Amino acid sequence: MARVAVVTGGSRGIGASISIALKAAGYSVAANYAGNDEAAAAFKKETGIPVYKWSVADYDACKAGIEAVEADLGPVDVLVNNAGITRDGMFHRMTLDMWKAVIDTNLTGLFNMTHQVWPGMRERKFGRVINISSINGQKGQAGQANYSAAKAGDLGFTKALAQEGARAGITVNAICPGYIGTDMVMAVPEKVRESIIAQIPVGRLGEPEEIARCVAFLASDEAGFITGSTISANGGQSMM
Ligand code: CAA
Repeated sequence: MARVAVVTGGSRGIGASISIALKAAGYSVAANYAGNDEAAAAFKKETGIPVYKWSVADYDACKAGIEAVEADLGPVDVLVNNAGITRDGMFHRMTLDMWKAVIDTNLTGLFNMTHQVWPGMRERKFGRVINISSINGQKGQAGQANYSAAKAGDLGFTKALAQEGARAGITVNAICPGYIGTDMVMAVPEKVRESIIAQIPVGRLGEPEEIARCVAFLASDEAGFITGSTISANGGQSMM
């Protein structure tokens, strides 16, 4: 039977490409989304991938969401924690609400989601947790104290959990995308975006598919010895 994969934020941007790549690799995929019903319906129609609406920032909603996915598709073997938001602003203008919104989704969201699938993965002695962090969690980014803190936290979460899951056949890894041509990056003011692209040695934004291929590899049996690692896919913008 096909392994079951859940992709949070899986109907748009990088997440949509991940959902599509995992389906192509033979997984039974559930794409979670939080708000954009129209985009999710279009994605479902186009790809045939079922979509499930809940916020990863809400623990109880994650619990109910995973119960619904498991009732429909079976136990979750692969969790891709991809959902993320930005509330950019220089720190002197950043409000507590901007801080909390990003921490709740981009960091606590990983707790809320992984907690639902972890016991089953431990029992079945197999699991793949793949966390989509960011170059800005590695190097920091002016205007993103909230986002950089959350994404750096995702890397600590990955490494701690990798140690706990190793003996139970569960790998936990992170991917740090650089600037990828999605709505999130296109929302950055054009002048700022141009200056960022100028810092990328390959001279372009990344493609969502370039991240999706990393996810498909980490999810595969071939990647069973890789755990607690971070793949940087950023066109050479940062080499840490
Ligand atoms: N380093 C240091 N100081 C900086 C700076 C930088 N990189 N950029 C701007 N500043 C300073 C400016 O010089 C200015 O200083 P003064 O007030 O003393 O003149 C001050 O910060 C305010 O600058 P702005 O006028 O640009 O401020 P703003 O309020 O109009 O915009 C911002 C601030 C919203 C943060 C905007 O600069 C911005 O969007 N920056 C890009 C942030 C970014 O890279 N976000 C990534 C989004 S994509 C993503 O997150 C995906 C991923 O994982 C990669």
